[in-house]
Amino acid sequence: MTRTPLLRLDDLSVDYGAVRVLDRISLTVRPGEVVGVVGESGSGKTTLARAVLRAVDSAAGSRILVDDRDVTRLRGRGLRLWRRAGVVQYVFQDPLRSLDPGVRVAESIVEGLRIAKVSAQEATRRRAAALEAVGLDEELLTRVPAGLSGGQRQRAAIARALVVEPRLLLLDEPVSALDAASRDRVVKALIALRDARGDDLAMLVISHDIGSLAAMSDRLVVLDRGRIVEDGPTRRVISRPEHPYTRLLIDSVPLIHTPTANRPSPVPARS
Ligand SMILES: Nc1ncnc2c1ncn2[C@@H]1O[C@H](COP(=O)(O)OP(=O)(O)O)[C@@H](O)[C@H]1O
Ligand SMILES: [Mg+2]
Repeated sequence: MTRTPLLRLDDLSVDYGAVRVLDRISLTVRPGEVVGVVGESGSGKTTLARAVLRAVDSAAGSRILVDDRDVTRLRGRGLRLWRRAGVVQYVFQDPLRSLDPGVRVAESIVEGLRIAKVSAQEATRRRAAALEAVGLDEELLTRVPAGLSGGQRQRAAIARALVVEPRLLLLDEPVSALDAASRDRVVKALIALRDARGDDLAMLVISHDIGSLAAMSDRLVVLDRGRIVEDGPTRRVISRPEHPYTRLLIDSVPLIHTPTANRPSPVPARS
């Protein structure tokens, strides 16, 4: 695996006032790779995503490389152009932050495309592809978010991110707010997406729950109070954790399902 990483964090630190919330984080996401970031509440996971999106500033000495380009110091017009290119898309924990409650799902999903002046025909084509990718029925399009289950809403929010055709999806606790059945469906949709898109789509999936990450991630990165304490292939991290904190996270989950075969074989979220 010598290919250029899609994302490379190199000694990324973030301070909130006098408090260092992320401390010299280094990690890479290669094209098509699914990397899970796990850590307890307050460990800095959302801050990590916000730093990549350039929604918070990183400390001096930090580097965030997207396609080998350092985006850490982008400001003003440069930052706007980079965002508009849409290489990186973010999905909130709460899908109602992506979906306007008064707007039908059909329009919410393609809103970003209208702003980017993509033709209506192309927008409809991409919407259909995104819906299929997340396993949502077209008949849901005429509803407002209140008419969808939590899991359907989260999949609609993921579809909204996908229509921009990003190469990296940042998913922040995508299943944490969902009941068990919805969680299962969203995890399955993400696994199917990973298998269908191959190297065209990478994901950085953030969660406090190592169980939900194990089924979909190629690699696991363990964050403890703003520091990476472990980073390795999912099965190795689960079966032979190197750090006591990782062991603690694993022991807090009753049953963990890890991939049983290498891609592209489909991996069941639950057997
Ligand atoms: N805007 C902010 N200002 C000050 N402190 C913050 C802010 N956002 C988060 N924090 C603090 O930074 C730490 C990491 O937060 P966060 O990245 O949200 O963690 P996680 O997503 O892992 O729960 C926490 O201690 C949190 O209280
Ligand atoms: Mg968070």
